[in-house]
Amino acid sequence: MKLNARTVLLTGASGGIGQALAREFAQRGAHLLLSARNVDKLATLGNELRALGIDVSVLSADLSSADGAERLAHAALSGGTPDLVVHCAGSMSFGCLETIPTEEITQLWQTNVIAPSLLTRALLPALRKQGHGRLVFVGSIFGSLAFPMYATYSATKFALRGFAEALRRELDGSGIGVTYVAPRYTRTPMNDGAPARIAQALSMQQDEPAMVARRIADAIERDRRDLFFGFGERIFVKLNAWFPWLVDRGLRAQTRRMRELEPATAGLPQ
Ligand SMILES: NC(=O)c1ccc[n+]([C@@H]2O[C@H](COP(=O)([O-])OP(=O)(O)OC[C@H]3O[C@@H](n4cnc5c(N)ncnc54)[C@H](OP(=O)(O)O)[C@@H]3O)[C@@H](O)[C@H]2O)c1
Repeated sequence: MKLNARTVLLTGASGGIGQALAREFAQRGAHLLLSARNVDKLATLGNELRALGIDVSVLSADLSSADGAERLAHAALSGGTPDLVVHCAGSMSFGCLETIPTEEITQLWQTNVIAPSLLTRALLPALRKQGHGRLVFVGSIFGSLAFPMYATYSATKFALRGFAEALRRELDGSGIGVTYVAPRYTRTPMNDGAPARIAQALSMQQDEPAMVARRIADAIERDRRDLFFGFGERIFVKLNAWFPWLVDRGLRAQTRRMRELEPATAGLPQ
């Protein structure tokens, strides 16, 4: 689907990857419905893009509750049916599982899995009636390669990948395509603090949001079913599917190092 003159509903538009996606879609001539909780950030971004002649609307939405997703669908549909829906909103949690509060675990499942499911369900009747469209789910490489200290986050991204795959098959023949994208570590506010320190210490490959956004937009314009970032990461995903015990061993030293580097978990028994 070429992005020019298409209407795009983008969640997570105030974040690092979301803002970069909004700019990339704008450059390609799309009309934008930008959504997140932080309306000040969205307003600033909206003004920047309107100055370039882009048609932009801002839709405030809190996806941490079930009715947030449904309200967003209602608001988006009041101006017509979008051609493209990009589910980019997400939150992350890092640390040994014993240190993660209950609310954080439930909030991650709500934002990363339940919200995109409910938003998609609410939009589908209009998309089916329209007879075309594309749903894009921003997952993670951790949605195929579960990572220690990111157990809940990994689990939500595994779930999102499964949801996208099932939906692609369910919507076959409807004119509505599904793309799952799996970025690796990207320099955004999501990684502020311990994850950034750890990525630095472990010499992880780090991507810039603008590059990630460009490749996601290319994948959309080529109607790709999925996009996984990083050659090494893709190999690891295959290796993990066939020989998970090898990956268990490979990650042992990294897990020890992460525990040493993260003060909140360093004192826990092995
Ligand atoms: N950065 C990485 O290394 C990386 C790697 C792989 C995948 N990803 C995925 O890429 C996506 C974007 O992440 P990012 O790196 O751009 O992170 P980010 O800068 O922290 O942005 C997260 C976005 O999600 C929105 N969001 C979070 N909770 C929300 C809620 N309850 N309701 C509505 N919106 C909410 C935030 O908006 P408000 O706070 O304004 O609501 C923000 O726009 C996420 O799905 C993430 O899992 C990121």
